[in-house]
Amino acid sequence: MSAPSPRASALMDLAPRPAPVMQRGQGSWLYDEDGKAYLDFVQGWAVNSLGHCPPVIGEALAAQSRRLISPSPAYHNDAAIALADALVSHSPFDEVFLCSSGAEANEGAIKLARRWGVEHRGGAHDIITFDDAFHGRTLATMAASGKPQFRGLFTPQPAGFVKARFNDIESVRALIDERTVAVMVEPIQGEAGVVPARADFLRELRALADAHRLLLIVDEIQTGVGRTGDRWGFEHAGIRPDVMTIGKGIGGGVPLAALLATRHAACFRHGDQGGTYVGNPLMAAIGKAVLDQVFAPAFLANVRDRGRRLADGLTALSHRHGLGEVRGRGLLWALDLGEPIGTELVSRAFDAGLLLNAPRPHLLRLMPALNVGEEEIDRMLAMLDALLNEVTPKRQRGGQASAPRANGVPE
Ligand SMILES: Cc1ncc(COP(=O)(O)O)c(C=O)c1O
Repeated sequence: MSAPSPRASALMDLAPRPAPVMQRGQGSWLYDEDGKAYLDFVQGWAVNSLGHCPPVIGEALAAQSRRLISPSPAYHNDAAIALADALVSHSPFDEVFLCSSGAEANEGAIKLARRWGVEHRGGAHDIITFDDAFHGRTLATMAASGKPQFRGLFTPQPAGFVKARFNDIESVRALIDERTVAVMVEPIQGEAGVVPARADFLRELRALADAHRLLLIVDEIQTGVGRTGDRWGFEHAGIRPDVMTIGKGIGGGVPLAALLATRHAACFRHGDQGGTYVGNPLMAAIGKAVLDQVFAPAFLANVRDRGRRLADGLTALSHRHGLGEVRGRGLLWALDLGEPIGTELVSRAFDAGLLLNAPRPHLLRLMPALNVGEEEIDRMLAMLDALLNEVTPKRQRGGQASAPRANGVPE
């Protein structure tokens, strides 16, 4: 098994990492400095929507870097305008704030809701978020998150967030009072282990928000830009949120994120929000190039096809090895292992040249490139099958996991 990395560089040591140093990538493959190849089903945590180093990003980067990199956010630039126009034309939103990370987009959403509360709701400022939610690592987005490990960290935490239970509309209703200004929800809780919001839950949230004059904010940092097989993760529920945040996939691997709002919700005043890299044309040009690919005809149908192949394969593995539920949408899936063998599997997979992620000890999360090939899916499944053969004999002595259930489109 890979030894953890020694403290080999001046980089702050923030997470356990295997020793090999990654050097280049191509499509679904990552290579370390010794030339070892890894089949990548993590893709920068669902970031590389078109895989590693797609030519379209290289071309957009080169062309834009020759034209304009940073005019300052004090001036308009054509690349940012083009990306904002494209986002608006592909969504029910009217206005866009471009930034660099998901947490920054969510901070913007929180500030926008508080500004909206001042303008329209007599200063209401509380935002209802959910147990196990993940919204980022700034102080406010950690407070908005429901990740148990964040509780009590870096106190005093910003106030103004109350937690409801995911997929439980009564728990939301019970928290609403005159201080409540918004509800913020992930269409699929990614970090919590790929837990989809039921479509009827999202519709009930919309109705509740309408009844109480609250903003409905969807955090689509992980689910947006084609990841679920639709353009946006809320679409299958047939709702229209007031605010959406996106990140990860929009940049195809570069730091780009956005906050989108309907005209009714977009109430920032001059000076409320900004930043040095806001609307940076270099990143915006890449975002536009990624959007043009992902929203081109047939691309999303392909994501759904590949997603079914992946889900069917995972379900077959679950049957064969007596594992648990397979759940997700598009190309964001989790396999419940039934036992806390995730870390061991990820480590053995790494040694075997396969990159997997275990967001919970009993769970694998799979988030390949949106253009992953069928043969790459089949190869990953074969490798995972072999790894489970090595690891599961131990667990089967402890008894059978519950029957597997493919839970693709929850209602
Ligand atoms: C749903 C969700 N929101 C917010 C974030 C934070 O994004 P970033 O790491 O770009 O700040 C993430 C990252 O995993 C996420 O999955």
